[in-house]
Amino acid sequence: MIAIELKGRKALVTGGDSGLGAATVKSLAQAGADVAISYRHTSDAADQVAALARSFGVQAYTFRLDNISATSEVDAMFQRVDQQMGGLDILVNNAGTDGARALCADSDIAAWRQVVEVDLFGAYYCARAAVQRMTKQGRGVVINTSSVHEFIPWAGYSAYTSAKAGLSMFSKTLAQEVASAGIRVIAIAPGAIKTPINANVWQDPKGLADLDDKIPMGRVGEPDEIGHTIAFLCSDLASYITGITVPVDGGMLLYPDFRQGG
Ligand code: BGC
Repeated sequence: MIAIELKGRKALVTGGDSGLGAATVKSLAQAGADVAISYRHTSDAADQVAALARSFGVQAYTFRLDNISATSEVDAMFQRVDQQMGGLDILVNNAGTDGARALCADSDIAAWRQVVEVDLFGAYYCARAAVQRMTKQGRGVVINTSSVHEFIPWAGYSAYTSAKAGLSMFSKTLAQEVASAGIRVIAIAPGAIKTPINANVWQDPKGLADLDDKIPMGRVGEPDEIGHTIAFLCSDLASYITGITVPVDGGMLLYPDFRQGG
């Protein structure tokens, strides 16, 4: 039998207290990894996710981090990872935001900058700290959470699409830099998945119908479908995969409008 096996691996999931991050923590713990959850808001949700992880027999830690685009906070978090976990094998850069919808001409400059700082700079700061550690131990996996919107333009979200496209190329370049050190770097591109980030859309019947129409498989994805993919990509079953973006999107990238006509 082939199974995803992460026993003894130590993983950090940023924004691990909700949505895709929480599902990822669960999947990694189910596969046997010890997990650290960084969270921004209250500790309640992070504590619940940690308790669920522990129910699978692994160690779970929670770290509060108010601003992932503040290098001092990122450094402090990684020092706590060193002290409390004694190493890091897996980083999942999950923390992100899509920001408020605004066409470029109407957009607020500070808000635009903030999306890029969280989604791109935040991931860069954490990846940098992680590969410094992973290089010393000669192994590791970095997963960067991109989006189908690294490929698909999305009116009103130019900061988000720009950050995700940047994150994609960052992942490839970093993968090239660290492959010989035994570190794999992979971006994952979720489509529309049922999480708080887009709850206003999928909880609205019209919004849901519109989303389903954009997805050849005809349904919004479940967070576990991302968690399972990430656990696989982090495992030795994926030992020859690096430097690409893996879409997990029910076919959203297949130009569903072209099912007919053209
Ligand atoms: C966004 C979601 C959106 C999905 C598909 C994701 O990157 O965060 O809000 O539903 O892309 O458009």
